[in-house]
Amino acid sequence: MRRGKKVSIIGAGHVGSTVAYSLALQGTAHEIVLLDSKPDIAMGKALDMSQAAAVLRMHTKVKVAVTAKDLADSDIVVISAGTPRKPGMSRDDLLAANAETVRSISKQIRENCANPMVIVVTNPLDAMTYVALRECGFDRRQVIGMAGLLDSGRMASFIYEKLGYGSGQIRAMVLGGHGDSMAPLHRYSTVAGVPLTDFLSGAEIAEIVKRTRGAGAEIVGYLQSGSAYYAPAIATAQMCETILRDAKQIYPCAVLLEGEYDYRNVVIGVPIVLGANGVEKIIEVTLNKEEKDEFAKSVASVKTLINKLFEMGFYVQ
Ligand code: LAC
Repeated sequence: MRRGKKVSIIGAGHVGSTVAYSLALQGTAHEIVLLDSKPDIAMGKALDMSQAAAVLRMHTKVKVAVTAKDLADSDIVVISAGTPRKPGMSRDDLLAANAETVRSISKQIRENCANPMVIVVTNPLDAMTYVALRECGFDRRQVIGMAGLLDSGRMASFIYEKLGYGSGQIRAMVLGGHGDSMAPLHRYSTVAGVPLTDFLSGAEIAEIVKRTRGAGAEIVGYLQSGSAYYAPAIATAQMCETILRDAKQIYPCAVLLEGEYDYRNVVIGVPIVLGANGVEKIIEVTLNKEEKDEFAKSVASVKTLINKLFEMGFYVQ
């Protein structure tokens, strides 16, 4: 009988391997399995990470999957395979290439894993979560897109940069899709419980919102040949830890709406309670007119991508 917790990560590029590394150092998972189209590179990374864990006297083993059968018994499967964007590209430009990748990965998950939680990181995030959900055929509570935690972390870091104090006491909230029209909600962002508007002017807040929306592209602009991975990976690892520990934390995550916020059949970032059963509750935040409009814009842009997928015949209905 299997003991301990197993996390499989499909796609051991910068994001996937950094998720594995973070989890290996935290020690909650007993086994981490990497599945990648370049198994030798994945093996080099897996050995290196297992040895890093041993330095910290952690017991986590990092392994490489020989075939998709090695995904069996995973408590969590992270989908981080796919092409990252290049400078000048939007995440949406990756739709066709990555939808095919996520579809074939989802088939492997469906065929080899009984009942895992699936965390999707591949871009365009919300549409790819939709593909994974349809192709895996799992309950919507089990298939969750990472991004709200990343975007909220980015907003918090910009608030800290502007204020110069309060780090660790900043709570930022970004809802909507992980795209150019994401909805950073300054009204729900606080420092030590005090609303952001008591610290910053409207213009300063607008600047933070704008920078949050463009934060991924800002990093792509510097890296030139890839996109961000430290913060995306930490946000993903944090979601894994929360599920493995059944910590029931509230995070914005991309989930399928079925009437919440008056939307259906769209995956979008909203606050959820995340625990051992995946999405344990969807929280419906009261939005004012302006926030509703921003959220609607973001939903519309994700729906456009999902409709493109319909036209391409990319998923099972
Ligand atoms: C970013 C990519 C990972 O936001 O979507 O950096």
